[in-house]
Amino acid sequence: MKFIIGNWKANKTAQEAFEWMLIFTEKLKTSEVPKLLEEDKLQIIIAPPFPFIYLLQPLAEKFHNLVLASQDISQFSDGSFTGEVTAQMVKGVIDYSIIGHSERRVSLYEDEATIAKKMKQLEDLKLKSILCVRDEKDTIYSSASLVAYEPMDAIGTGNNKTVEEVIAMKKNLSLLPHQKFIYGGSVNEENCTEYLQNPEIDGLLPGKASLDPVEFFSIVSSVE
Ligand code: PGA
Repeated sequence: MKFIIGNWKANKTAQEAFEWMLIFTEKLKTSEVPKLLEEDKLQIIIAPPFPFIYLLQPLAEKFHNLVLASQDISQFSDGSFTGEVTAQMVKGVIDYSIIGHSERRVSLYEDEATIAKKMKQLEDLKLKSILCVRDEKDTIYSSASLVAYEPMDAIGTGNNKTVEEVIAMKKNLSLLPHQKFIYGGSVNEENCTEYLQNPEIDGLLPGKASLDPVEFFSIVSSVE
């Protein structure tokens, strides 16, 4: 099974998010992609900002293997933590949560201790994680379901790593047998095929290229 994960980051209004989903699901309907979804050969994971998750879920649930992820989750289970979104608030509408994205590690000062607590929250509620690591120095938790190699110099720069570089990093990461290996960093409709054709790479995590439903559709339809 290949995994294509669209990380919208802090983009879009509610209306734009809904329209994105309408366009994307219309394109899906008229394509061969639902067959891959039905056969468990492809899972499409969309990570919109928190406020749009409940808005998009009724459209996503019409397709097998079209699921939602949150881009983060609180390190706390519940209580007096103003502004936090906890795992139990979104359980039932998301299948995954992205944890440890470098933008959070760097711009929001998220340290490994915080990331460990977030992973524990997901584990406790039996939600799956998409753990982002920058290299082998970031901890790989045994509970991580998908491990995304996201080199900082490739994110948002247009300087995507080569397939060879990505596979060399996979060897350094020592993944557990149940962990799938994802690459993210300037993935787009032009370069996605070379990664997708390689059996060592289980999926892709486009950011910018996921913001346009037509380009994102082009990436998911590159899965064979
Ligand atoms: P990018 O972002 O595709 O825009 O480089 C990837 C990511 O940060 O997840």
